[in-house]
Amino acid sequence: MTQQDIQQTIADFKQAAVNALEAGFDGVELHGANGYLLQQFFSKNANQRTDDYGGSVENRARILFDILDELKSVIDLNRVGVRLNPSLHGIMGILVDDETIALYEYIVDRLNGYGLAYLHLIEPFTDVSQNPQAIPQVAKHFRAIYNGTIIINRGFTKETAMQVLHDGDADLVSFGVPFLANPDLVDRFRTNAPLNQPDQATFYTPGEAGYTDYPTLKQQLHLTENNQ
Ligand SMILES: Cc1cc2nc3c(=O)[nH]c(=O)nc-3n(C[C@H](O)[C@H](O)[C@H](O)COP(=O)(O)O)c2cc1C
Repeated sequence: MTQQDIQQTIADFKQAAVNALEAGFDGVELHGANGYLLQQFFSKNANQRTDDYGGSVENRARILFDILDELKSVIDLNRVGVRLNPSLHGIMGILVDDETIALYEYIVDRLNGYGLAYLHLIEPFTDVSQNPQAIPQVAKHFRAIYNGTIIINRGFTKETAMQVLHDGDADLVSFGVPFLANPDLVDRFRTNAPLNQPDQATFYTPGEAGYTDYPTLKQQLHLTENNQ
């Protein structure tokens, strides 16, 4: 990307926020995780720039703060969240390295000054317990650094979610797959109802199947009654 491409991208993020507000959304999440563009800037193996956006930890993190500084002019930052996946390793083209921990500590500490709605963190996608360059317990690690609301994600069940909240490592837990398979997930958790099992074969596929066709508990009970 040229410097101009970067400036255009920052402007595009700003326009996306304007569009989201205009469409009626309450806020936006700035996606700095999962191998997408911002994480490519953060990661040493992906970012080979020699200008202000490459090299040092501060430079590789710069685009995130440039975007937040621009967003400020169109949306209150207490309506903006930031999503990070600090221990992503070996997938989506991202590797941890000897500066990864310092980089994310720098980012998260600096985010303290932005008054965000929340910081949305992701626990490691793969086992990094033997890798000293990776943070094995993401929520626990950053709880000690971040003063605002932390949402933690990945692999949680109702029980482990209750535990992480109880331990004080996060304020909120987000669910992906369990919500995909259970449109009424909150009700099921509340009533200790059994969960639908997710069908992995329909993950990442186009069309409705696997996205909008899992039954709610109510629909299941109705089906059972009709079959009796
Ligand atoms: C079908 C499917 C599609 C997903 N698509 C994306 C995506 O486009 N971008 C992204 O960052 N994460 C994506 N994710 C990952 C989720 O955001 C979430 O991090 C992941 O499912 C782990 O949380 P969970 O264990 O509660 O499901 C996807 C997950 C699933 C199952």
